[in-house]
Amino acid sequence: MQDKTIVELLKSEKTHVDVTVRGWVRSFRSNRFIALNDGSTIKTLQCVVDFENFEEEILKKVTIGAAIEVTGTLVESQGQGQTVEIQVSKLTVLGEANPEDVKLTILSPKRHSLETLREQAHLRIRTNTFGAVMRTRSKLAFAVHEYFQKNGFNYMHSPIITGSDAEGAGEMFRVSNLDAKNPPLDENGTVNYKEDFFEKETNLTVSGQLEAETYAMALGKVYTFGPTFRAENSNTSRHLAEFWMIEPEVAFNDLDANMDLAEDFIKYVVNYALENCADDLEFLENRLLEEEKNKPEAERSEMKLREKLQFILENNFKRVTYTEAIDILKRSKPNQKKKFKYIIEEWGADLQSEHERFLVEKHFKCPVILFDYPANIKSFYMRLNDDGKTVRAMDVLFPGIGEIVGGSEREERYDVLLQKMKTMNIDEKELYWYLDLRKFGTATHSGFGLGFERLVQFTTGMGNIRDVIPYPRTPGNAEF
Ligand code: 4AD
Ligand code: MG
Repeated sequence: MQDKTIVELLKSEKTHVDVTVRGWVRSFRSNRFIALNDGSTIKTLQCVVDFENFEEEILKKVTIGAAIEVTGTLVESQGQGQTVEIQVSKLTVLGEANPEDVKLTILSPKRHSLETLREQAHLRIRTNTFGAVMRTRSKLAFAVHEYFQKNGFNYMHSPIITGSDAEGAGEMFRVSNLDAKNPPLDENGTVNYKEDFFEKETNLTVSGQLEAETYAMALGKVYTFGPTFRAENSNTSRHLAEFWMIEPEVAFNDLDANMDLAEDFIKYVVNYALENCADDLEFLENRLLEEEKNKPEAERSEMKLREKLQFILENNFKRVTYTEAIDILKRSKPNQKKKFKYIIEEWGADLQSEHERFLVEKHFKCPVILFDYPANIKSFYMRLNDDGKTVRAMDVLFPGIGEIVGGSEREERYDVLLQKMKTMNIDEKELYWYLDLRKFGTATHSGFGLGFERLVQFTTGMGNIRDVIPYPRTPGNAEF
């Protein structure tokens, strides 16, 4: 007798053996065929019951969503689309699921909108779509570690609670044990954080970069992969208040090497998903094809999901300076310009996602790495170029996503960094440790951050970021 998962059984070449499987019922046809899923694969295992051999009371409980255990003989299947099935000899209902409960309707074979499924985040994972997305997410996470570990990087756990605002953008969630309704005040009437548990103002990290830099300047190559938080009130299909970020940081890498790393890394993980998530990606691709049928022809995608992924692997990311991008946008045709909500008039303007997507999807028609941005629209830590007005920043822009990576070569010159912090009003005392790096054995170094959910979105073709993370945190949404 063997206990195996369905994914293993479906691959097994040995039949006429007794097996036991457990899972949740997807359907029960003609009181004879149970489609069983255990989450190990998108596929179901057909379990054939000879209803005369089982009590009616038990069979009645075999309803959609119920947890059951079956034991029987694995045999070749005559049915279409499956190689093996189980001839059931023993059937136990482990946990019933009331088919009348409205919550369970999301498990019925009828298609439900993703919005409806979002309302039941704890049950939506039982659907094929979410099973496929979350298995792919898990594989991608593994591929991230595999890539860096194979390439000599050390995994660094950067702190979640921190005093620093790595991006200097002030979009932080405060962490405090002070009584919010009745905080201790100092003589000026401002909150006295000295009485706080951490004795200073602390927040949830927006990025592990600054801490990762300190480690890169000792271990050479490091990466972080953990949750990060942004208190920005962006209600879009690309923003979360809590998201996972991957941040490699490498000593002695300049911006060109940073771009090479980002491209190589993304191609590795996308290829890993293509090779290891075939069934799930096939399902998601078909799902998208169904969805596209409802769209006007002009809006339908020219490529299928897996073709898009393959395309990324086979093409070089186009490297373009910010200045070139602005020229392209300024020169774009009047009917295209009309489509922009915000028209780029001059050098120095920040690109909106509509411009990024135009460059990638309409102009270059491939992933783009934009670099050398104006200093005053980017963070304080980026290395100033010799022109005195641009910094060694890079953003990787992806079709359907927009910005997937943001990174830079870091300012390694003490005086230049200090001056920059002063003009940008960044407290040099708070960041003394960051400045210290520039005093003791400073060197060129660079890194980037990749938003993991945006990568999962791209790989699975899901349109909304809320559907690629188990429990999305967005403004007004943190039920549990
Ligand atoms: O461009 P960002 O803000 O860069 C940093 O945080 C740097 N410290 C990274 C570094 O150089 N080590 O964020 C990096 C990436 C973005 O390109 C995007 O993919 C993702 O993180 N991201 C978000 N993803 C989901 N929701 C949000 N609110 C996000 N904000 C950024
Ligand atoms: Mg960015």
